[in-house]
Amino acid sequence: MSGQSKGYTNCKINIAIDGPAGAGKSTVARMVAGALGYIYVDTGAMYRAVTLRMLQLGIPPEDEEKVLQVAQKLVIELQPGEFGQKVLLDGADVTESIRSSDINANVSRYAQIEGLRALMVSLQRQMALRKGVVMDGRDIGTTVLPDAEVKVFMTAAVEERARRRFQELKNPESTSLEKLTRDIAERDRLDAEREISPLRQAEDAVLLDTTRMSITEVSEAIVRLCKAHGMERSVE
Ligand code: DC
Repeated sequence: MSGQSKGYTNCKINIAIDGPAGAGKSTVARMVAGALGYIYVDTGAMYRAVTLRMLQLGIPPEDEEKVLQVAQKLVIELQPGEFGQKVLLDGADVTESIRSSDINANVSRYAQIEGLRALMVSLQRQMALRKGVVMDGRDIGTTVLPDAEVKVFMTAAVEERARRRFQELKNPESTSLEKLTRDIAERDRLDAEREISPLRQAEDAVLLDTTRMSITEVSEAIVRLCKAHGMERSVE
């Protein structure tokens, strides 16, 4: 199905969704992609997959040269799956393992490496070349796709984001809401304070505070933005 078949726009556009951890970006991005018949790209999953391999090989983030050497040879594939996006690392399904607490605790440290970011950004740009992509991350509107036609910066109060993550946990007894809140606040700090492509709202991004919005309300709001854009550019 293409974006055109829904009649929203005559020319496909790219949609950039950025924001802090737990703002609901990936669920919303997937819903928007589904509604428009677009491809969803979860860039956080790419950093997670790299982190998984580095932890498996015992390569610390301080050894940037080795990280880059290994990362350059990795094959990361994002495929639409029955229950969301499927992530393949060198052909192996790592969809579940990249969501472990070990990865959560380490991914920001690898995501700070300049050369690794350059590599990921170039892969992400290739994925968006043909347009019709909904991409979520931290630096999509500012760095990866500065020309994306629709940019959204999604946020929510840290307590609300922690509460949402807590509800999604398969084994909530493994942590507490307080610890999750602290972990998310720490990840926000690392992502926002890093030197290269920090988490930042692009000047031309629409700010959506989702603290009191449902996932459906948020995705409908974004689809409306896309429709408005498509109508402006329509050649009908
Ligand atoms: O969205 P997420 O929680 O799966 O992201 C995992 C980590 O990767 C997070 O700490 C921030 C980092 N990240 C990034 O630096 N740039 C992106 N475009 C996406 C994610």
